[in-house]
Amino acid sequence: MQIVKTIEEVRKEVKQWKREGFSVGLVPTMGFLHEGHKSLIERAVKENDRVVVSDFVNPTQFGPTEDLASYPRDLERDAKLCREAGAMLLFHPEPEEMYFQDRTTSINMEGLTKELCGKSRPVHFSGVCTVVAKLFNIVTPDRAYFGEKDAQQLAVIKRMVRDLNFDIEIVGCPIIREEDGLAKSSRNTYLSPEERKAAVILSQSLKIGQEMIAQGEKDARKVKEAIVQNITTEPLAKIDYVEIVSFDTIEPISTIEGSVLTAIAVYIGKTRLIDNFILSGKGETYDNNNVKR
Ligand code: PAJ
Repeated sequence: MQIVKTIEEVRKEVKQWKREGFSVGLVPTMGFLHEGHKSLIERAVKENDRVVVSDFVNPTQFGPTEDLASYPRDLERDAKLCREAGAMLLFHPEPEEMYFQDRTTSINMEGLTKELCGKSRPVHFSGVCTVVAKLFNIVTPDRAYFGEKDAQQLAVIKRMVRDLNFDIEIVGCPIIREEDGLAKSSRNTYLSPEERKAAVILSQSLKIGQEMIAQGEKDARKVKEAIVQNITTEPLAKIDYVEIVSFDTIEPISTIEGSVLTAIAVYIGKTRLIDNFILSGKGETYDNNNVKR
């Protein structure tokens, strides 16, 4: 596996692969990789001849008071995980390689980005869309892999690809969890041992909502209330949001039917964690093309 820092090197390698007729998969990440990222890379390796992983803590998707400076980084460990998972190229650019100082172009999405994480992170999705569009143009993959862990991000990227005619298949991958149910996240490293224990409240509360829906509850307000109520039993938890929305439009819904995203963001101490589940009204899981798994 090669580790490269420049756009030119990525383009040179990918052009050679394409001349040889190889398909190319891309897994965009911000590094400090864990089993969640690994599952995306392994799926990409299965479905493509060559896989590029990008490892870039993208400054434009962090707000001024967010954790850009303290975001964990460990290139050596990341490289080992990518190599083991079967990636061929690790793209690790400096911010100056990715962004011109006098840049004036960015991607702003009208819908889908105002609810959920968009409410408390107003610049976030513009930064995500801009960097992902740039990565798409640099790598020109056939397929790109995103986790359902960041379900709103997945919906936003799918919409951007549709609206801007990127010729790229977006593959959504299931959430990988710790044994106690906590969704794996690079930000879990911020948690103290006590907070780590408390963090199980996210997946535990979602499970309660999931079970209500599986038993036929169609009233989104009731499901939401049950989730909120359970989270508030944990003294270290502070709710940012608990929302039930359409997975396609990220608009709040009142009746649970079709492709539904139940998403939560909760502070455990100072650390903001997110989790979700995607369901149809019948309690089935759907992939991002609304195809039943
Ligand atoms: P990052 O948080 O590093 O996540 C990279 C990819 O891994 C995302 O698609 C995310 O949904 C997926 N992922 C993270 N934890 C996961 C888990 N527990 N199970 C399954 N998938 C998981 O998301 C970003 O980076 C950035 O916003 C990025 C898209 C790279 C743009 O900068």
